[in-house]
Amino acid sequence: MSGHSTFEPQNGFVKWMERRLPFISLAHNSFVSYPVPKNLNYLWTFGAILAVCLVAQIITGVVLVMHYTPHTSMAFDSVEHIMRDVNWGWMLRYLHANGASMFFIAVYIHIFRGIYYGSYKEPREVVWILGVVIFLLMMATGFMGYVLPWGQMSFWGATVITNLFSAFPIVGDPIVELLWGGFSVDNPTLNRFFSLHYLLPFMLAAIVGLHIWAFHEVGNNNPTGVEVKDSQDTVPFTPYYTVKDLYAIVLFLIFFAWMAFMVPNFMGHPDNYIPADSLVTPAHIVPEWYFLPFYAILRAIPDKLGGVLAMFGAIAVLFVLPWLDTSKVRSNNYRPLGKQFFWIFVVVCLGLGYLGGKPAEDGYVLWARIFTVYYFAYFLVILPVLGFIEKPKALPASISEAVLSKHGGSAAADSKA
Ligand code: HEM
Repeated sequence: MSGHSTFEPQNGFVKWMERRLPFISLAHNSFVSYPVPKNLNYLWTFGAILAVCLVAQIITGVVLVMHYTPHTSMAFDSVEHIMRDVNWGWMLRYLHANGASMFFIAVYIHIFRGIYYGSYKEPREVVWILGVVIFLLMMATGFMGYVLPWGQMSFWGATVITNLFSAFPIVGDPIVELLWGGFSVDNPTLNRFFSLHYLLPFMLAAIVGLHIWAFHEVGNNNPTGVEVKDSQDTVPFTPYYTVKDLYAIVLFLIFFAWMAFMVPNFMGHPDNYIPADSLVTPAHIVPEWYFLPFYAILRAIPDKLGGVLAMFGAIAVLFVLPWLDTSKVRSNNYRPLGKQFFWIFVVVCLGLGYLGGKPAEDGYVLWARIFTVYYFAYFLVILPVLGFIEKPKALPASISEAVLSKHGGSAAADSKA
């Protein structure tokens, strides 16, 4: 799919460079002439949107650090200093805090797109697995970032989540002490979280590079799930998808700006505007919204270790998804049963998110249990079994045929459809 290079150096300098470090032809082959299926819909713009989110987080983060102090006695005040005294500090901070939420909105859409269209299937398993590693790193980064302002939710969120590791026999307590750097969440904890919060985005960037390399090697999937057959099925990345991606990025940035400038605290918790106090436990300790489905799974299991295993298992199962789904057909557009179970899965994930934000009381916990069972059943039972019992719809012979039949094209395509 990476194909034969059509790049011709145009001037002396490029020729000189190409013999030494051919990055210009690499960029050209990857982002200009790179052949892309011609039927990608707007869900395929979220990869580019995610790249923008990552860059925006790194830029705003690096500038915030210039004014932030990672010490328990000063962290909260330094964030208030950023909000009140630093030129445009309020904007930087709101862009960074809301940027994290935007990042997760985009990544969830990107992941569900992948599941719906079977983008994890052969030969894209490595693209998918690298994606799951990215997702894990994003969660670690988001969690540690939330601790930095050292508000009440920072402190108590860190206390609850780090304590989870104590559920593991033998290794549990040493792990918790290592995370804390002592015997409770305190200054050493804040320091190590700060250090890792700064480091992980750069590791993320490196793994995103591998992710992009991997899908350039195997080519993009597309809404039909049918592989590219010939050059009729593709268009060059530039201008077709550079323009489409840019358009989607602009729309996304408008929404982002609306969040950051009009409702900047909507995604946050008011308790985090209270300085951390180890003697006052908030009535309800809730993580950021993007962890809520996993938090609901954790609390759905009555046993602490069981809950922790279920929570980590909910992510671990994604690693083996390519081998759990036995269907030969990728796209749920052609899977009548797969499509229905997929949409139930989406509702279940949203439901878990809702329940994760509610107190762990009877009715809520019961629903969380039902949804948790479906979450695991979807991967471990439904997808493996469906491949054997489902009768998929007829696949188009090619991407071109699918496009033409959809848009009233050639008679040949119509007669086959
Ligand atoms: C920083 C986070 C991420 C970035 C910057 C990123 C970037 C991209 C880009 C640019 C593409 C190609 C365009 C597109 O298909 O949208 C892509 C494709 C893909 N990504 Fe990601 N990604 C990220 C996270 C993830 C995660 C968390 C997963 C899954 C758990 C994932 C799974 C995939 C898959 C399976 C494809 C191939 C899609 C296809 O061709 O149909 N990505 N990614």
